Amino acid sequence: MASVKPLDERPAWKALTSHFAQVKPLHLRELFAADPERARRFTVDAAGLYFDYSKHRITAETMALLLNLVDEVDLRGHIDAMFRGDKINVTENRAVLHVALRAPRDAHIFVDGEDVVPGVHEVLDKMSAFAERVRSGVWLGFTGKRIRNIINIGIGGSDLGPVMAYEALKHYSDRSLTFRFVSNVDGTDFAEAVWDLDPAETLFIVASKTFTTLETMTNAMSARKWLLAALKDEKAVANHFVAVSTNATEVAKFGIDTANMFGFWDWVGGRYSMDSAIGLSTMVAIGPDNFRALLAGFHAMDEHFRTAPFAANLPVLMGLLAVWYSNFFGAETIAVLPYDQYLKRFPAYLQQLTMESNGKYITLEGKRVTYQTGPIFWGEPGTNGQHSFYQLIHQGTKLIPVDFIGFNQTLNPIGDHHNQLMANMFAQGEALAFGKTTEAVKTEGAPDWLAPHRTFEGNRPSTTILVDRLTPEVLGKLVAMYEHSVYVQGVVWNINPFDQWGVELGKVLAKQIMPELESKADPALGHDSSTNALIRRYRAGR
Ligand code: F6P
Repeated sequence: MASVKPLDERPAWKALTSHFAQVKPLHLRELFAADPERARRFTVDAAGLYFDYSKHRITAETMALLLNLVDEVDLRGHIDAMFRGDKINVTENRAVLHVALRAPRDAHIFVDGEDVVPGVHEVLDKMSAFAERVRSGVWLGFTGKRIRNIINIGIGGSDLGPVMAYEALKHYSDRSLTFRFVSNVDGTDFAEAVWDLDPAETLFIVASKTFTTLETMTNAMSARKWLLAALKDEKAVANHFVAVSTNATEVAKFGIDTANMFGFWDWVGGRYSMDSAIGLSTMVAIGPDNFRALLAGFHAMDEHFRTAPFAANLPVLMGLLAVWYSNFFGAETIAVLPYDQYLKRFPAYLQQLTMESNGKYITLEGKRVTYQTGPIFWGEPGTNGQHSFYQLIHQGTKLIPVDFIGFNQTLNPIGDHHNQLMANMFAQGEALAFGKTTEAVKTEGAPDWLAPHRTFEGNRPSTTILVDRLTPEVLGKLVAMYEHSVYVQGVVWNINPFDQWGVELGKVLAKQIMPELESKADPALGHDSSTNALIRRYRAGR
């Protein structure tokens, strides 16, 4: 592999390091006071998203230096390589083409000399036909009853995208259908999902890229048993199970007719797959037209990412701000705080997208990094978080950059709820940035001893993303913005955001431990003394 200059030895990095010393003591109060145009200067209005990053601890020079950095690491070349279908996932020798999943029918994207776009649309058409059959009641259960319940069985990317999208787009969903999502190998997840359902009216979508994932296969087997216990005929499986996978052999082995399998490809990573056939439950819920609108939103952001100048490119700006705080301010986390109840699973979705992608300490050259990589993402919808953890963001000792996401229009206009919601979002951004001085607190009558407790230092950074309305298209844009921002960060850190070797060791050890738990005789245990004792304690106490 060609040798690449280590990130922290690059001129742009060194320039940022000395620049940081000048920016660190600056307060957002001073920055805003010194520049009446600051909000306009640091806001991008693109692809229907108003992206205000003026409340960040940056100056025009910070952004110029960060943009120099992406030039030095050849972000443009990396973006082109991804869209071209180059095998940029080098540790798995795969292309990374989630952008092909939302490419229009007349686009052409090649992998190993083959245009993948016709295959994408073939699957989308097959999904549409299936979704229409379920939604219209043409697809019947084995006993002739109409399907009323859809259960997606999957985990990781085969669950988090479908759950998040279902919750986010519930407003657009068919309310005569019940949707549930089973992911955890904890039997409670499955038991609670089916306890009030009639098997004769229930359809399972088994979603697994590999179709070998232990949790998913265990849940799918339990679903099969649950169904057959009621319907008492193996042939019922065909009416009540469909599969989403890249692995036709394993799907057939499970007993699902591959005619009822919806495929995708190894160039789609699990956490980048919600707009592939993994989105089948989403399509059944919101209908094919809305699903296509979701894809159009993804594609609009792809085009923005591919073509907009970096200085006005939302994923690039978002990615660079993450680098700025992670590597220079030493921030360990980023909070994503959507002021929309429908986005309640968005932070959980982003956790896999961001942390499975950029939680890596090895560079593309196989060396240990000498700088921080992927931050921890977390969050809850506003206003709930305000009454829980915001205290720490306002007055704690840790710097936590925040993404606020809000909408001009609510999907559920009730009284003044929406104005209250948005007033809170704007207030939080303002309070975090500007705080409240001790003098102001004292002027309000606080005694000297109490004043420090009631003082807000401020200077807490945030981005505010304001959009007109939560629609399928807008959801696609939001997700694609974060997807591409993850790539930008990965390129800067010189890591591979598209593999996930770090999940393997635990899987291997669990496989070893499983027979030790099941064994009738007292097995010889070869683990460390702590793990051995835990296993013995469990065996004795279960
Ligand atoms: O956690 C590891 C992982 O491979 C994720 O990347 C993936 O989304 C998940 O497991 C599920 O994988 P599959 O879709 O193959 O069941």
